[in-house]
Amino acid sequence: MISQRLAIIGAGNMGASLVAGILNKGLFPASHIILTNRSKGKMEPLQEKWGVGFTYDNAQAVRFASTIILAVKPQDVPEALRQIRGALGRRHLIISVVAGVNIAAIKSWLGHPAQPVVRVMPNTPAQVGEAMSGWTASPEVSRGQKRMVRRILGALGKEISFNDEGLLDLVTAVSGSGPAYVFYLAEQLIKSAREIGLPEDHCQELVLQTIWGAAKMLRENGGSAEKLRAAVTSKGGTTEAALREFAAGDLPGLIAKGVAAACQRSKELGAQWAPD
Ligand SMILES: NC(=O)c1ccc[n+]([C@@H]2O[C@H](COP(=O)([O-])OP(=O)(O)OC[C@H]3O[C@@H](n4cnc5c(N)ncnc54)[C@H](OP(=O)(O)O)[C@@H]3O)[C@@H](O)[C@H]2O)c1
Repeated sequence: MISQRLAIIGAGNMGASLVAGILNKGLFPASHIILTNRSKGKMEPLQEKWGVGFTYDNAQAVRFASTIILAVKPQDVPEALRQIRGALGRRHLIISVVAGVNIAAIKSWLGHPAQPVVRVMPNTPAQVGEAMSGWTASPEVSRGQKRMVRRILGALGKEISFNDEGLLDLVTAVSGSGPAYVFYLAEQLIKSAREIGLPEDHCQELVLQTIWGAAKMLRENGGSAEKLRAAVTSKGGTTEAALREFAAGDLPGLIAKGVAAACQRSKELGAQWAPD
């Protein structure tokens, strides 16, 4: 168990996922966690369920804790940081899970150029304890703090650290937006299942269990999608017939274009929140 104290600013989806992940894994005692939120009504159920503390005063939360997780929407970051900057010291580690806001912007809004800051790009499966998080740390973050970040992000799912913050735009395009690509595939498969005449009530289950089972096979067979695909594609068979159509419509090219567009958009959005 980690003996330090943790403040989570923003008790929305991500804040609630963090509380659930951290306490389910027993990483911090509930008495060492404090939540804050702007509006009333979101923290009370979390306090009741998990026994964590809460306050509407961000500066008070910062004085209580040594690690601060920032889990507000990008447009709310300047205000949240303005509220805590006076209470912050060099001992405080800021972990931002905010998409698209870079470390330089956070430091600039804080007015503390030497503040240890970690920037994380998680994804929505954090809500079910299966996040993929890419993260990067400013030079001020100590090895001990990095170990703690790994444990916190590990409570949400899996994590990979990157030395180059620029790579987080690429991470955003792959795993950040990735769940939506899989949802889109599921949506189209369910639609096609209906169109070829399967009973409505079975389409969803057929597709969901297929995606679930295929993902499990990928995990358990060493992760080579190409090998697994080849193994289920017999010459002259049904799978081959479908894959031939996908290739003829240049599905691989479309996926590559989509990922490149997401990466470009991530860079543009990041520039929008860059410090003046
Ligand atoms: N949801 C995900 O799975 C996911 C995945 C990847 C990245 N993220 C990132 O995580 C961040 C949070 O996303 P979310 O989905 O959790 O959003 P959300 O559900 O809207 O939660 C954000 C919370 O922050 C609160 N807030 C705003 N300003 C505040 C302030 N100054 N002090 C304290 N609380 C404040 C909001 O309060 P109100 O009740 O007043 O709105 C809201 O409850 C975003 O930046 C997003 O990019 C989320």
